[in-house]
Amino acid sequence: MNKALVTLLLTLGITGLAHAAGDAAAGQGKAAVCGACHGPDGNSAAPNFPKLAGQGERYLLKQMQDIKAGTKPGAPEGSGRKVLEMTGMLDNFSDQDLADLAAYFTSQKPTVGAADPQLVEAGETLYRGGKLADGMPACTGCHSPNGEGNTPAAYPRLSGQHAQYVAKQLTDFREGARTNDGDNMIMRSIAAKLSNKDIAAISSYIQGLH
Ligand code: HEC
Ligand code: HEC
Repeated sequence: MNKALVTLLLTLGITGLAHAAGDAAAGQGKAAVCGACHGPDGNSAAPNFPKLAGQGERYLLKQMQDIKAGTKPGAPEGSGRKVLEMTGMLDNFSDQDLADLAAYFTSQKPTVGAADPQLVEAGETLYRGGKLADGMPACTGCHSPNGEGNTPAAYPRLSGQHAQYVAKQLTDFREGARTNDGDNMIMRSIAAKLSNKDIAAISSYIQGLH
């Protein structure tokens, strides 16, 4: 093989590795500041703070990068993801630190809550069947039937997530307050089809889903 090509392949291989590897043990040390809101093991107690335990690694990393960009002073309107509570918190974390944090939280065991029995049927119908008449696909296609998500595709795990947090995200996507779902606006177009009643039912269902 051509020597320049071999060198190129080696270099690519090495940088590829450096990017991929998050170290969960190193991440645990860096996660101390996160525990106050998200829980030391990523299972938050308060329903407005998302659970991070067991969440897909690629999704976690993307959100941290988006939050870091979105909370920078002077960040352009609509860039990244705005989480006021986390303002400035990720500024001193390098890409490697964020990868380590993602590796730590993904390795933790997630807890599951319970759905409101009165809302289960409506929630399940929407989650599994979508709203075909309105052109809204089922959630199962991307977030999987049991809500575990799709790690390689960075489709987040929803199983057991706090209903209050899920309802806020769906409302934020619908109102355009959360815009980090990419140029194809997957979640904004889906949430546009959901009424407040739909959001309440589906969020309660997700809290108990496993
Ligand atoms: C003061 C409370 C607070 C602290 C401390 C905090 N966060 Fe957050 N975090 C939040 C809130 C609130 C949200 C969700 C906001 C929203 O969109 O409603 C959030 C969202 C997130 C998300 C997105 C989760 C998802 O499911 O999309 C990630 C990832 C995250 N935080 C990671 C971290 C990490 C890592 C740390 C520590 C370095 C940290 N947070 C510290 C309050 C906090
Ligand atoms: C075509 C794929 C697709 C479908 C179908 C889909 N989602 Fe999503 N969903 C995504 C992606 C991708 C994201 C992450 C966007 C980002 O990177 O911030 C997401 C994010 C979310 C979030 C935010 C999770 C968090 O931790 O903050 C919620 C809640 C959600 N989806 C609920 C639903 C519900 C409910 C349905 C069905 C009504 C649904 N999704 C259908 C792809 C999909």
